[in-house]
Amino acid sequence: MKILMVCLGNICRSPLADGLLRRKVAENNLDVTVDSAGTSGYHTGEGPDKRMTQTASLRGTDIGFLRARQFSSADFDLFDLIYVMDRSNLENVLKLARNEKDKQKVKLMLDEAEVPDPYFGGQDGFDHVYDLLDSATDTIIDKIKNKQL
Ligand code: 4NP
Repeated sequence: MKILMVCLGNICRSPLADGLLRRKVAENNLDVTVDSAGTSGYHTGEGPDKRMTQTASLRGTDIGFLRARQFSSADFDLFDLIYVMDRSNLENVLKLARNEKDKQKVKLMLDEAEVPDPYFGGQDGFDHVYDLLDSATDTIIDKIKNKQL
């Protein structure tokens, strides 16, 4: 199974979702490939935002090695599941879908809610995003183990 996490910049939310899921996949010895990308190319080649790297590091998740890249339609061929962080990401990814099969791979990370963009706010926003994605990646791991994904 190959899973891609997507947000706007690929420097705050999706690298955290990527790092959390990678760590949990390794801890659970699962055969899952994890990556992340941004719908924009604003930060291509950059590491994650320092505030997110530090938030993650303080709570036991290393994301400092990740580098931002832009999502492209080729990702529909490379991944089985594509999790987007908010509805704007959803719209942008679906615009690049070439067929119904591509569209069916795309899911909102939080089923009914969205992962709020912490970029223009304070530390509490980064902690909140960590809590949301920690819980969502636990759910993904449980579903993989129970063959529900
Ligand atoms: P992300 O956050 O989508 O969670 O990586 C953002 C990062 C950068 C910008 C916006 C959101 N930006 O406008 O540069």
